[in-house]
Amino acid sequence: MPGATFLEGDSVDLCTIEKDDVAFVTEALNHPEVRVPLGIAEPKNETQHEEWVEEEVASDDGFNLLIVADDEPVGVISSNWMSERHGHAVMSAWLAADAQGQGYGTDATSTFVDFLVDERRMETVRAEAFAFNEKSNAMLQSIGMERVGTIPNWAFVDGEHHDSHIYAVTADQWRDRN
Ligand SMILES: CC(C)(COP(=O)(O)OP(=O)(O)OC[C@H]1O[C@@H](n2cnc3c(N)ncnc32)[C@H](O)[C@@H]1OP(=O)(O)O)[C@@H](O)C(=O)NCCC(=O)NCCS
Repeated sequence: MPGATFLEGDSVDLCTIEKDDVAFVTEALNHPEVRVPLGIAEPKNETQHEEWVEEEVASDDGFNLLIVADDEPVGVISSNWMSERHGHAVMSAWLAADAQGQGYGTDATSTFVDFLVDERRMETVRAEAFAFNEKSNAMLQSIGMERVGTIPNWAFVDGEHHDSHIYAVTADQWRDRN
């Protein structure tokens, strides 16, 4: 049973991450369809994810929320780099392999950007997607983020270096989107 509901989207809730979620995170995040597009090449077991919940999730730096659909955990959305002074946040998200392609990413990300802009007074929200990650690039564009640049050879995945695309949206652009 997921933790407390913190934000409600149309098809997903964003809930607090609890120690009971560690088994889900370990199973889902080690899957190649999740970790490879994220650039993760280190196996992490439940003990390491317990430490992540105790240290990073429980810290005051940034936010991590469980993406929940039909009362089941399906992914995680985070902003681990935020500056209240400058008013900017960097966000990222992942969904379990069997939960991808059903609109959950779009709903979770839009709900999270609403929160960052409307509740945390962020002026700019930034995200990044490796050039080969078609789903992530499509999702960020479809919610109204603008591709503002590309870092060449940023990631090493599957034996090759890959570019990484940087996306951003300002608070005004977010409020004025269709
Ligand atoms: C990237 C991710 C978060 C997207 O979430 P999702 O729930 O799978 O995506 P959605 O179902 O909301 O689809 C988002 C958009 O991508 C499009 N899309 C879906 N699969 C696609 C594919 N294989 N190729 C191109 N576009 C695709 C959808 O049509 C939709 O666009 P639309 O709204 O214009 O129709 C999710 O797939 C994921 O976690 N992938 C693995 C980890 C990852 O890459 N995280 C992001 C790192 S930057």
